[in-house]
Amino acid sequence: MKILAIDTSCDETSVAVTGGLNILSNVIWSQASLHAKFGGVYPSLAKRAHEERIGWVINKAMTNAKCQMKNINAIAVTIGPGLAIALEVGIKKAKELSAKYNIPLITVNHLEGHLLSPFAQPKNSKKQNIQNSKKIINSTLSKVTFPSFGLVVSGGNTQLILVKEIGKYKILAETQDDALGEALDKGARMLGLGYPGGAILEHMAEKGGAKVYQLPIPMSGKEKEHYFSYSGLKTAMYRLIQEQTAKNPIRKPSASNGAGELTKQQIYDLAASYQNVAFEHITRVTSSIISHYPSTISYLLVGGGVAANSELRKRIRKMCRKFNIIPLFPYSKKLCTDNAAMIGVAAYFKTQRKEFSEVITKLERIPRYKI
Ligand code: KG4
Repeated sequence: MKILAIDTSCDETSVAVTGGLNILSNVIWSQASLHAKFGGVYPSLAKRAHEERIGWVINKAMTNAKCQMKNINAIAVTIGPGLAIALEVGIKKAKELSAKYNIPLITVNHLEGHLLSPFAQPKNSKKQNIQNSKKIINSTLSKVTFPSFGLVVSGGNTQLILVKEIGKYKILAETQDDALGEALDKGARMLGLGYPGGAILEHMAEKGGAKVYQLPIPMSGKEKEHYFSYSGLKTAMYRLIQEQTAKNPIRKPSASNGAGELTKQQIYDLAASYQNVAFEHITRVTSSIISHYPSTISYLLVGGGVAANSELRKRIRKMCRKFNIIPLFPYSKKLCTDNAAMIGVAAYFKTQRKEFSEVITKLERIPRYKI
């Protein structure tokens, strides 16, 4: 089963070819540099960039997979959640190809792609020099039992999910305001670190002290309410930066947010303190929920851009040890952030359930698509 998968949900134009759970190619054209000066995604610019590049990205994915359209069994496309005018570009292209080559279409929820991304496997383990880890991946994945837990931590969503079986989900907790990735991006922006800031914040935090500054852990004492919330932390960080810059003797007339007046060490310590509290919140709420479920649930699937963060992975592993649960992350950090290979993987499971999109004229975007 070869699938051509397309994702244009936000600011990455991505196309992949998957064969079962194996990634034959996964091309990602990031628009991050286009949006950096706006400090976030500029929708009309994103749409135009997707339109300009999608044809090239499809050709590249097909060439990398050494594949022709006649070898493709299905075309998968993300229909939401995401930016409506960006989603439309991928959907239009998928419909065109489906009609031209008479290939069935499969619609995919972007969040299901993130959730199932730990199941993706490399094309050729030897070439990618991860032979041993592939063996581990194969033997572990074949043993995954359901129900399991799933945690999606991306730029737009933070959700803890009960995976009753693949395709049947129940949201156990989600964010009431900002997503974890969004909160990290905003923290990074306040520190003048650029966009998207999650990965830069991680590097700064490695050089700082997580306990140097006291920031409030969101929902502290209210973990049993079972939702995530990051807006209060963001405000606390803003105030803390103002306080620190006011105290700072090194005053430079630079960044309007005041971050230019911080020393390097202050930036490292603020990054570490902010990240620490943001991660503490997610593991506390997740632990509280997991503790209410039977100990027979043995796996936690973890996906989304923030799952690339080594500190978060460390904390998730530690949390899982307490509950005797095995956490499963995508085998490569490239599979955490937006990519079409995960869409191909989610689509593969749909083909097994024979879930094809029947009427292609009805294939519309769903910007607030729920898992
Ligand atoms: O999954 P993703 O690519 O997009 C959505 O589907 O939303 O996630 C993007 C988010 C951004 O907020 C980005 O800052 C964050 O993932 N991110 C990270 C890291 N790499 C990407 N956050 C923390 N540490 C990282 N290493």
